[in-house]
Amino acid sequence: MRCTSSSLVLALGLILVTLVSACHGEQLYVGYYKRKCWKYNVEEIIFNVVKAKFAKDPTIVAGLIRLQFHDCIVRGCDASVLLDGPKTEKTANPNQSLRGFYVIDAAKAALEKACPGVVSCADVLNIAARSAVFLAGGKWYYVETGRRDGLVSHKSEALANLPSENIPVRDAVNLFASRGLSKEDFVVLLGAHTVGTTHCDKFEDRLYNYHNTGKPDARMNTDMLYALRKRCPNKKGHNNNVYFSYNPRSHYRMDNTYYKQLLVNQGILGVDANIGSSPLTNSIVKKLAYAPGYFDNKFGPAMVNMGRIGVLTGKQGEIRKYCGAVNYRKH
Ligand code: HEM
Repeated sequence: MRCTSSSLVLALGLILVTLVSACHGEQLYVGYYKRKCWKYNVEEIIFNVVKAKFAKDPTIVAGLIRLQFHDCIVRGCDASVLLDGPKTEKTANPNQSLRGFYVIDAAKAALEKACPGVVSCADVLNIAARSAVFLAGGKWYYVETGRRDGLVSHKSEALANLPSENIPVRDAVNLFASRGLSKEDFVVLLGAHTVGTTHCDKFEDRLYNYHNTGKPDARMNTDMLYALRKRCPNKKGHNNNVYFSYNPRSHYRMDNTYYKQLLVNQGILGVDANIGSSPLTNSIVKKLAYAPGYFDNKFGPAMVNMGRIGVLTGKQGEIRKYCGAVNYRKH
């Protein structure tokens, strides 16, 4: 009798373990690659590649963080943004200024050497972005892994889903909500605009002809307006870039300078100014600007939430050999 009940417990236990591991195969979790790449630590390999590239060019921080956003918001985090081809997402206008592809390729090449066909490009992208955040002074966060790579990438989908630089707050909140992200996630993620640059054509209307009034956006700080007009003269034939951050120490540092700037009307893009001035988001902006450690603690979790959008797992998609192309398959 005793023997029977313990066998029953054992059998139930086994069923449970099998169920849990079957489920694990279908979802993301921290540490997915543990013991899947011989003696190698997958996340460390990616971190070391990003670190080496960062040492030569700290601007890749902005490139890698933005890559994750542009991948995840279109078709989910499936590395569709990395695919080359005549009509892929990469070719859409807003993606023309994406940077950091070479870092992803270098990390993937290192992984293919260590354990071919194991690590997806979608996961490389998410881990590379986390590495970049950390190297730029942000707080370390744990990245869930187990994504697989998509087989499809369409320019038209990028054009339809990437938000415009002047998107109203309500529309942006709805867009992020449709991807399972909260209003706070949205405002926190925009804090990535503390690093990197933007081009004049993305905000020139705010300098000269806001909403076709023939006047600048009245919300813009006057000193900043004049400085930006110098950098972005109102004539054709140039498209300079400017740092999002007014503070040179923050050009490539993940800190909360961005929110402090918003509160003194120094947001550069329309969307930046909008979250600073909208009653929907203004209180979150204030908290991120002034509550010590708040941005630091929130940014990683928001990236993790973004990393869950529309992922492919289990038997869906594939593990690409090279991130720019789907594997050859017989039709
Ligand atoms: C409604 C949401 C958003 C809009 C409308 C938006 C728009 C833009 C635009 C227009 C640029 C400048 C592109 C250029 O001139 O080359 C830019 C740059 C950037 N964005 Fe966003 N963005 C949004 C959300 C995000 C999110 C969620 C992230 C990441 C978590 C992000 C990260 C970045 C970074 C890091 C840059 C600088 C890139 C570089 O220096 O190469 N953005 N964004």
